[in-house]
Amino acid sequence: MSPLQRDAVSSGNLALPPLNFRAARRRLVGGLAASIVIPIVLVWLYASYTYHRAITEESSTLNRFAWIAEAKVTDLLDVNRQLIARADDAIGSRDALQVSRDAQYLHTVFASLVASQPQIATLSVVDSDGKLLVSSRYFPAPNVSIGGRDDFTSTRATLSRFHISLPQRGPIQGIDIVSSLSARVAHDGRFLGALVISLHRDHLVRFYQQLHAEHHAVTVGLYRDDGAILVRFPPALLPHPPATHQLLAGEFVRKPERGFSKIDSPLDGKPKLLAYRRAGPYPVYVSAGLATADIVNSWLRDDMSIVLAALLPCTFLWALIIFSLRRLRAEESSWNSWRHELSRRQAAEVAARRMQRMGALGNLVASVAHDFNNLLMVVGANMEIVRRKGYNGVKPEIDAVERASVTARALARRLMSVARRTPLRVQTVQPGQWLTETKPLIASALGSDVSLHIDAIKSSWPVAVDASEMTSALVNIAVNAKDAMPQGGSFAIRCSNITFATSQHGLTPGHYVEFACEDSGTGMVPEVYQHAFEPLFTTKQAGAGTGLGLAQVAAMAEQAGGTARIDTSVGRGTTIFFYLPRLIEDAVAKTPGPIASAAESDHARPTLLLVEDNEEVAAGLAAVIDVLGWTARHVPSGDAALGILEEGCAFDLVLSDIQMPGTYDGIRLVEWVKQRRPTQAVTLMTGYAEHLETARRLGVAVLSKPFNADDLDALLSSIRPMQTRY
Ligand SMILES: Nc1ncnc2c1ncn2[C@@H]1O[C@H](COP(=O)(O)OP(=O)(O)OP(=O)(O)O)[C@@H](O)[C@H]1O
Ligand SMILES: [Mg+2]
Repeated sequence: MSPLQRDAVSSGNLALPPLNFRAARRRLVGGLAASIVIPIVLVWLYASYTYHRAITEESSTLNRFAWIAEAKVTDLLDVNRQLIARADDAIGSRDALQVSRDAQYLHTVFASLVASQPQIATLSVVDSDGKLLVSSRYFPAPNVSIGGRDDFTSTRATLSRFHISLPQRGPIQGIDIVSSLSARVAHDGRFLGALVISLHRDHLVRFYQQLHAEHHAVTVGLYRDDGAILVRFPPALLPHPPATHQLLAGEFVRKPERGFSKIDSPLDGKPKLLAYRRAGPYPVYVSAGLATADIVNSWLRDDMSIVLAALLPCTFLWALIIFSLRRLRAEESSWNSWRHELSRRQAAEVAARRMQRMGALGNLVASVAHDFNNLLMVVGANMEIVRRKGYNGVKPEIDAVERASVTARALARRLMSVARRTPLRVQTVQPGQWLTETKPLIASALGSDVSLHIDAIKSSWPVAVDASEMTSALVNIAVNAKDAMPQGGSFAIRCSNITFATSQHGLTPGHYVEFACEDSGTGMVPEVYQHAFEPLFTTKQAGAGTGLGLAQVAAMAEQAGGTARIDTSVGRGTTIFFYLPRLIEDAVAKTPGPIASAAESDHARPTLLLVEDNEEVAAGLAAVIDVLGWTARHVPSGDAALGILEEGCAFDLVLSDIQMPGTYDGIRLVEWVKQRRPTQAVTLMTGYAEHLETARRLGVAVLSKPFNADDLDALLSSIRPMQTRY
């Protein structure tokens, strides 16, 4: 896009097919969320349902195991009780002495009682000190005593009819037994001793083993009501398990018949689910337990694998949606870049058309101004002649023409400036300092009703610009601001350093000085601000405005390598921005002095070769030159001048227009002169800025059209005539 960023080229009016990416993305994200949330909720419901089902199922398994174990133990203990009752009957009221006397008889009875009970190791009777009197297994009874055993002392102390011992090693056979003791009490309440049935502990273990075989994760246990562990299968995992299960004992107290609890097993060190039951009327409990981790594991294995299998299609769905989202993003980005490209192209086309129009307008303005300049030169030259001839009584009239031609020259210069044809005097400007110096001028342009505020940092970067053009630009902006604030208001100029990392406002990335000129005026409607920078565009009444003010601002900024733009809104005021590139190094070419070379001459009438295609301009100039004491020889083209010079004629000065018909224009003529007559003084005349650079390169002085007799006089005075004649 051209630097003429001031036009608001909008891409909003592009007729693009509607594509609502946001809605599509919303739908996809919604679908993704639903496809995640719904299965997760269902999985959660299913998982909690199956988990509770697993717990219920395992609980009933444990209850069943506990029930079977309880039945078995109750049977055993019932048998025990019956045997004890029979043995008791057989002993009758015999005291220890009598029992010893009838030991053989009692041994036979006892042996026959336990003959069909393989689970029973021995049925025996001990006296009140624990000394063995009769044993079903041995006759005579070995001389052993259980008087020191806890179970005996406890039975003696409580006179318990049923006391069960801890597991122990049998004193005679050396096998693991669990004994049940029943106190024998005389009619007078004396403790006579105890009947002792020793059960093979292995018998119980084997039974529990069978139960365990049905469900390998289940542990089965037999406990006394105080929590003492009688049998457990499989054996405890811990190396030194406790002899009692205190937690379970607490549960027995809480719920004495049967119960179900979740407790940390002191035997395995694992959290467990336990079902326990009391064995009939006996102070003994059976339990069946499962580690909760095992329950969870089997639940995960059985039910969660189904869940995972069900989630598999979901993962495909998720992958599909994520893939679609990515595609959508890619499509959106290409859509955006396409749209961006399209709008960029359309903006470029609009700008190009605008530039063409502006260029054509600029050319028209330039050509009018050029002719205007020439006419002014004629008028000026002839006025000068009249003045030098003593006016002949028309001095007031000549003065009036003079004043009008000054205004006309200013207008011509403005036109040339807008058409970017003004020869520039580029110099280094420090914006902060320059604004301070220009402040009074701007203030007077604004008038007394408008307050002026200037905000410029001292460290603002220097710029390379034609200072007089910049002054004109600021005055133009100030005058516009004043016109936009008929009731008064405020006008502020802010100057700041700004760096564009990317192209902005049609400027290439780099460092710029930004001038923001803000007024509190009426603002502009779009139809105005879109054309405000165009030359000759004005909304003012005929004669009130030329429409060259903002065009000059834009021309000044662009000629300096920057740009200008408008920010305005109706009722809120206008800010005119212009950007000038930061001057990095001393890029300002030195404008050659008015005279590139001078030749000394002490001759009375120095000579000048005037090369000018416009006859009237030439005639006027020749007259003025004559008045100034020089002799001018006029030729209408560069080719003609070349012919004369080639003939060997020499002049104190060759004064040539630049743009002329023929092979040799002013520039080529100078090149020829520089090569062949290096000592020949040459000065060029032009109204076009673009010729300046070439002239500078050649090191030739340039008179900027329109110039007046004084400018010419200054030029001729600086030339030292040579001893040359034509
Ligand atoms: N600060 C502003 N506030 C409101 N409108 C403005 C402002 N500056 C410019 N304009 C509008 O832009 C138009 C063009 O301005 P520009 O300075 O180029 O020409 P002009 O002011 O009309 O004439 P000239 O400056 O040559 O006397 C103005 O006629 C005006 O309508
Ligand atoms: Mg103006």
